[in-house]
Amino acid sequence: MWEQPFKDLDFFPEAASTIAWEIDALYLFAVAMSVFFTILIFAVMIFISLKFKRRDEDFVPKPVHGSVPLEILWSVIPFIITQVLFGWGAYVFFKYSQPPVDAMDIHVVGKQWMWKIQHPEGKREINELHVPVDQPVRLIMSSEDVLHSFFVPAFRVKRDVVPGRYQKLWFEADKVGEYHLFCAEYCGNEHSKMIGTVYVMTASEYDEWLRTPGNGEEETPAQAGERLFSELRCESCHSAAGVGRAPSLANIYGTVVTMEGGERSRVDEAYLRESILDPKRHIVAGFESTMPTFQGQITEEQVFELIAYIRTIGAEPVVSGGE
Ligand code: CUA
Repeated sequence: MWEQPFKDLDFFPEAASTIAWEIDALYLFAVAMSVFFTILIFAVMIFISLKFKRRDEDFVPKPVHGSVPLEILWSVIPFIITQVLFGWGAYVFFKYSQPPVDAMDIHVVGKQWMWKIQHPEGKREINELHVPVDQPVRLIMSSEDVLHSFFVPAFRVKRDVVPGRYQKLWFEADKVGEYHLFCAEYCGNEHSKMIGTVYVMTASEYDEWLRTPGNGEEETPAQAGERLFSELRCESCHSAAGVGRAPSLANIYGTVVTMEGGERSRVDEAYLRESILDPKRHIVAGFESTMPTFQGQITEEQVFELIAYIRTIGAEPVVSGGE
């Protein structure tokens, strides 16, 4: 029986996120333009070389001195096409740089050679990522060693995970199933084994999965952060009342703080991470640089736990301090 050749060879990988079709459409447009002009140029070349073939040894062609309408035509058309690509590309880029406010945060740490993942409820997994369908998910990613790259082809999302900073990526899976997760940056001997599976589940399946006991602690990142916060004696300076030697951390997440010297910074994950590991970098106006660095003393996961806890401090009733 005749078998269809290349039946497993798809032009695009399976699409399973809300962003996938927009990326594919943009990509198809670029490919279609390239194919169209390649064919057009070759067709014109062949046509001209046949039509204007030199038919006689003594033939001298009429000299041509350019054509303004032609020059304008072949400058304006490519200009319009590249501007369409630019505008469309920028639209897609900005749309998917800004995660929706209701996105669920999942923390990802890349290390040689695995993906370590922790859910907001505390559940951990390695080289597997379980997510609910039709729910925006924001990944906050860091690396413990070298540069990795988090890549899920079915979602059309890929982001380099660079040591020393947070990288964010978001997606909304729209199809239940299992999809490949890759590391897309050569990161050492076993880079090719740094692969995993993304499981997209219905909301109820996901809730059930969250409840099944995993291995290790089931403390939430915020609970672990609170424990760490007291173990490291952070509250001896960062008192909730705001009268310590350091700024109060209550309700600080998401606000804009003014530095010594007038510079202003938004308090987000990146700012808090830098303030823990490199406290001299941002000195809030009115405070002295007295905080020691925690670089090398706590892991990336612990930094994230502290941040998760700091984000919850605002939710607690704050003891009013003596002003
Ligand atoms: Cu990690 Cu390649």
